[in-house]
Amino acid sequence: MASLTVRQLDDKLKKLLRLRAARHGRSMEDEVRTILRAAADEPDRATPDAVAAPRPSPLAARQESQPHAASEKKVLLIIGGGIAAYKSLDLIRRLRERGLGLHVAMTDAAQEFITPLSAGAINDARPYTDLFDPVHELSVGHIRLARSVHTVVVAPATADLIAKMANGHADDLASAILLATTANILLAPAMNPHMWANKATRRNMAQLIADGVHVIGPNAGEMAESGEAGVGRMAEPLEIVAAVQALLAPAPGLLAGVRMLVTSGPTHEPIDPVRYIANRSSGKQGHAIAEAAAVCGARVTLVSGPVNVPDPPGVHVIKVETAREMLSAVEQALPADVAVFAAAVADWRTATNSQEKIKKSGKQAPELMLVENPDILSSIAHLTSNRPKLVIGFAAETEHVVEHAEQKLARKNCDWILANDVSPETGIMGGDSNTIHLVTRTGVEHWPPQTKTEVASELVARIAQALRTTR
Ligand code: C5P
Repeated sequence: MASLTVRQLDDKLKKLLRLRAARHGRSMEDEVRTILRAAADEPDRATPDAVAAPRPSPLAARQESQPHAASEKKVLLIIGGGIAAYKSLDLIRRLRERGLGLHVAMTDAAQEFITPLSAGAINDARPYTDLFDPVHELSVGHIRLARSVHTVVVAPATADLIAKMANGHADDLASAILLATTANILLAPAMNPHMWANKATRRNMAQLIADGVHVIGPNAGEMAESGEAGVGRMAEPLEIVAAVQALLAPAPGLLAGVRMLVTSGPTHEPIDPVRYIANRSSGKQGHAIAEAAAVCGARVTLVSGPVNVPDPPGVHVIKVETAREMLSAVEQALPADVAVFAAAVADWRTATNSQEKIKKSGKQAPELMLVENPDILSSIAHLTSNRPKLVIGFAAETEHVVEHAEQKLARKNCDWILANDVSPETGIMGGDSNTIHLVTRTGVEHWPPQTKTEVASELVARIAQALRTTR
């Protein structure tokens, strides 16, 4: 076996090794021995070079235990040193659930709060911790890492890390990556409210925003220090995930070849030629879902009740008025791989539809006799042949939101329910944002408040993930 001496190393590597040896109080030769021993002890899969394969979501796990193919878009999570680092463990899990290939790097200070072992266990790959790691720095590993990812997330982003970034420092792995990367950078700051409000931090943040860095949070609330409250809490993991997904943008081709059926808007149930029963649905959510699916390459048929939003581009739109027309259009649009029932279908229609305008006559108001409309979601979800692989409903509730959605999931035989609170104070009905609780047969996931477009992208990503495991 050929022998290698420290003298044969190139100058840069020698310098790195000298610094590392000095830090550990060892000779350079002893430092090399330590590194080689550690490398030999590592199983292959635990080397940081391996991007952790995405982990299936609970739903995917239920459908099939096979892991997904590695995602094209990789994310690097840099964990900074703050008490919020414990939330980053959940963030790793959430990012993996969404099928993202994930690298993790930890600063020295982060390792005071959580261990590389716990981060590595959740991500199935040892995190990067050291700039002076000859095993990886032989090929300038931090530059490679910085350039190989689509998005770099820093969570928690401490005041110190922010200051280093704003000033272009590169004296440790995290700052060197941040200086070398050309990827999107998303910061999730977390610090004491006084540090966040400090003029130096304000200056640094203004500089970073001007440099094109994206920021999520911090949120207001209680601090880890007892009695302290204010703006400085790290955004919640799901909020960070939503921001990452917005940066990743729907991938064209994600749903290539998938046949998708979406219902949207209200239905109008005529009373006579000029009057009808309706509801406040705007169609914004259903139309956003149809559009997001089409952007991702799905062949989308949108069956829509009367709305004032434009037809989404690239979508086959069938316009209907009543629930019965909607059911018939939906049946004709089958077969489909996925059906999303976002329409607010009127539960009742009048038993008779007067052909003439009902006149005011005498003192008595006319009596309207109502009969129940067909349940479109339930009829399609109960089909024994031609049932789409994934049937997704919505549950607009004003109380016991999740509980009612769970009952609806079972009663209507659908696979997922997106439940939301439509009490007037939420402003969801007709508004631009939505707060979703995703109810599946295996559990409930609470999504943060998002725009209806973000909800649509998130749902499309979930659908793609679920279909990958059933193909
Ligand atoms: O029972 P509820 O109206 O709350 O159920 C809501 C879900 O069922 C939505 O997905 C809606 O599109 C669907 N639905 C339907 N046909 C009906 C009533 C509701 O498809 N007649």
